[in-house]
Amino acid sequence: MERNNSQALLLRKYDVPTPRYTSYPTVPCWDNSGFTNETWLDVVSRTFDESNHEKGISLYIHLPFCESLCTYCACTTRITKNHNVEIPYIQAILKEWETYRKTFRSKPIIREIHLGGGTPTFFSPMNLQWLISYLLEDTDLHPDYEFSFEGHPNNTTQEHLQTLFDLGFTRVSFGVQDLNERVQQTINRIQPFKNLEQVTRLARAIGYKSISYDLIYGLPFQDPFTVSDTIDKILTLKPDRIAFYSYAHVPWIKPGQRGYEDADLPSGSLKRHLYEIGRFKLLKADYEDIGMDHFALRHDALFQAHRAHKLHRNFMGYTITNTDLLIGLGASAISDGKYAYAQNSKKVEEYITQIKNNGLALIKGHILSDHDMLVRQCILQISCRGELNDDLLQQVVNADILNALVDMEREGILYLYSGGLKVTTAGAPFIRNICSVFDERMKSNTGTHTAYSRAI
Ligand SMILES: C[S@@+](CC[C@H](N)C(=O)[O-])C[C@H]1O[C@@H](n2cnc3c(N)ncnc32)[C@H](O)[C@@H]1O
Ligand code: SF4
Repeated sequence: MERNNSQALLLRKYDVPTPRYTSYPTVPCWDNSGFTNETWLDVVSRTFDESNHEKGISLYIHLPFCESLCTYCACTTRITKNHNVEIPYIQAILKEWETYRKTFRSKPIIREIHLGGGTPTFFSPMNLQWLISYLLEDTDLHPDYEFSFEGHPNNTTQEHLQTLFDLGFTRVSFGVQDLNERVQQTINRIQPFKNLEQVTRLARAIGYKSISYDLIYGLPFQDPFTVSDTIDKILTLKPDRIAFYSYAHVPWIKPGQRGYEDADLPSGSLKRHLYEIGRFKLLKADYEDIGMDHFALRHDALFQAHRAHKLHRNFMGYTITNTDLLIGLGASAISDGKYAYAQNSKKVEEYITQIKNNGLALIKGHILSDHDMLVRQCILQISCRGELNDDLLQQVVNADILNALVDMEREGILYLYSGGLKVTTAGAPFIRNICSVFDERMKSNTGTHTAYSRAI
């Protein structure tokens, strides 16, 4: 009883707007001053020279179109049923890639491609083939290359799966979210279980080595029964990985989320209970908890990387590849050049026009200071390994950070020892909060809080 009370207090205390830390500094805290296309291309060129030969590079391609809006969605999307948008969009991406190619002084070695969205499978298999084969022209593949894409179970066809597999894609993640009819109706995403079953069977038959599902807890009208039922059903299909995301409620940024009332959402403690139900069932079914809402079976590369302390986190979330240069192509795409970040225009038309005119479509960026680089390392260690070594800790710690960590130690969510800091099992739900202790840019940019969803 006492334990339940103190857990409830912690949930209340830490259920505040907090970043997901797919970058540090987080996008709302970037300092855009002095950032130009030229500065960015210099960074890209430097990082490419330093790392391409050994590590290769990553490409993230944002394909924003969806045929209808799922009202809960927080991704950058463009809703349309008009498929004439496909060709001009791909032409812009290829032109953007040409700009980057000109800055490379040797042949790029491609380590990773991820097609995200939106819905990549909005595009026809033929157009996806054109896009990928053009990007891969005159490049080398890294021996451990990993190509993955996000597929909507309702529109991913056998032809999509086969075409992408033939191009080297072996990982696919399907958006599932929830299988309950009332929840699906409320979020405007009717997706029968049989579609998921069929697309999973097809992907396996073709040879995909890792199939991942996205689930969400905290959606309108979810309750312990609906979440339990969804998990039981998806467990019959045994996906290799599961992302069990906390629903990000940001209606002031995503007005679609006003399609239901705040009162329809499970409250903080119920929301956490829904997560615990899911987690319990997943662990019982032999999934391992990787951290920040991710689970994987033991044979999956994500778990292997986690166990070997080789997990990495970037704008795509957790990844097993640790490249220094991630180039984001497409509207809203974010790039990480190790010493700087950059983001493209979010609106499709603006993106296409800027690419036509300048070959790049950047709207903002940030050059990392030496201190930013240290803090980024700290946040990566905590989010990927649940710990922070003493050497790094000593380089960033100050009185405020130490006080916050000592409080957290008293609350039982981490402990401090001669080797540094370790997150406890009870502290796992609060990883985002622990990372935020080190986030001095957020502390001094209080106006950015509205950009983040709540931590729990
Ligand atoms: C680009 S979508 C996945 C691919 C495809 N469009 C689909 O819906 O199946 C990326 C994922 O982001 C997650 N997501 C989107 N909006 C979210 C929100 N408000 N809170 C938490 N996760 C969200 C969902 O799990 C979704 O599957
Ligand atoms: S959840 Fe997927 S299909 Fe639905 S609007 Fe978002 S990106 Fe599009």
